[in-house]
Amino acid sequence: MIDYRERISELKERRGAVIVAHNYVEGEVQEVADFVGDSLELSLKARELQASVLVFCGVRFMAETAKILSPASVVLHPVPGAGCPMAEMASGESVARYRREHPETVLVAYVNTTAAAKAEVDICCTSANAERIVGGIESGREVMFLPDRNLGANVSRSLGRRLELWPGFCPTHNRIVPETVREMRRQYPGVELLVHPECVPEVVSLADAALSTGGMLRYVRESSARRFLIGTEHGILHRMRKENPGKEFIGLSPVVTCPNMKKLTLDSIVSALETMEPRVELPEPLMERARRPIERMLAVR
Ligand code: 13P
Ligand code: SF4
Repeated sequence: MIDYRERISELKERRGAVIVAHNYVEGEVQEVADFVGDSLELSLKARELQASVLVFCGVRFMAETAKILSPASVVLHPVPGAGCPMAEMASGESVARYRREHPETVLVAYVNTTAAAKAEVDICCTSANAERIVGGIESGREVMFLPDRNLGANVSRSLGRRLELWPGFCPTHNRIVPETVREMRRQYPGVELLVHPECVPEVVSLADAALSTGGMLRYVRESSARRFLIGTEHGILHRMRKENPGKEFIGLSPVVTCPNMKKLTLDSIVSALETMEPRVELPEPLMERARRPIERMLAVR
C-alpha cells in the first residue's frame, strides 16, 4: 500500500512545492498542507509566497484567486471538477449585463465567483471582511451584492443598509434550517452556537455569532466556553478539535457537507505533483481585470 504522506513529502521536495488547503477539506488533506486557512487567508498566503509551485486544495474559485495573485506560480488544482455551485450562479456574461444596465451601481462580488465575474465588478469581499468592505462604500450609492443572497442579507442587516441581492446561495449552508437549530439548542442548552454567514438570516439570528471559517477558529480558541455547536461545513471540526484538545465541538447536522471540498484527496495530490497537472490557466487580460477588485479588497484591511 502506498504511504501517501511520505510520497507527497518526497514529491513536494522534488518539485519545490507548497501545499495550501481550505479549512473544509478532509482532515488527512489538511495534515499534508503547509498552510490551512479561510479564503481570505489563502489569498493573502498565495500573494505573499509567490511559490514556484503551489498545490491548491480547495474549490476552483479559490485556486483561480491564488493564480491571479501569484501569476508566475504554477498553480496545481488537483481536482478541476471541484467547483463551487454558488460561484456558478453568477456567470461573467450575466454580471456584465447587470453592469451595463446599472452603470451607477457599485458591484461587490463575494470571492466565491469565477474570474470572469470578478473581472466585471468594482470590489471583492470574503465572509471575513464583507461588512468592512460594504460599510466602506459611500452612503447613497446603490450596491449590488453578488452572488450570495444570504451573506448579502446578513451584511445588510448588520449595517442597516439596503443592498440589491443577486439570487445565488450556497447549497450546503442553505440546507441548515431554523428548525434544526432550535432542536439542537434544546438538546444542548447553554452551548455556544457559531454559524457561517452563508446561512439564511433566520439561522444567523438564532446563533451566538456568524463568522468566517477563520473567525470561528479564532473565536473557539479565545473563548472560555468548553462546548460549541458548529453550523458550517464539517471539515472545520478537524482543526477545531486538533487545536483545542480540551474543548468539545458538535456539528450542527449531518447535511453540512460540501461535496466539492471532499473531492480533494491525498491520491489526487500525489498525481498532481507527479504529472504537474492539472494547472490553473487563465488568459492574462482576464487575470488583469479580475485582479483589480481583489487587490482593492486586500487594500482595505
Ligand atoms: P471562508 O471565507 O469563511 O473560508 O468560507 C469560504 C466558503 O466557501 C464558505 O462556504
Ligand atoms: Fe461553495 Fe458552499 Fe462549498 Fe463553500 S461550502 S465552497 S460556498 S458550495
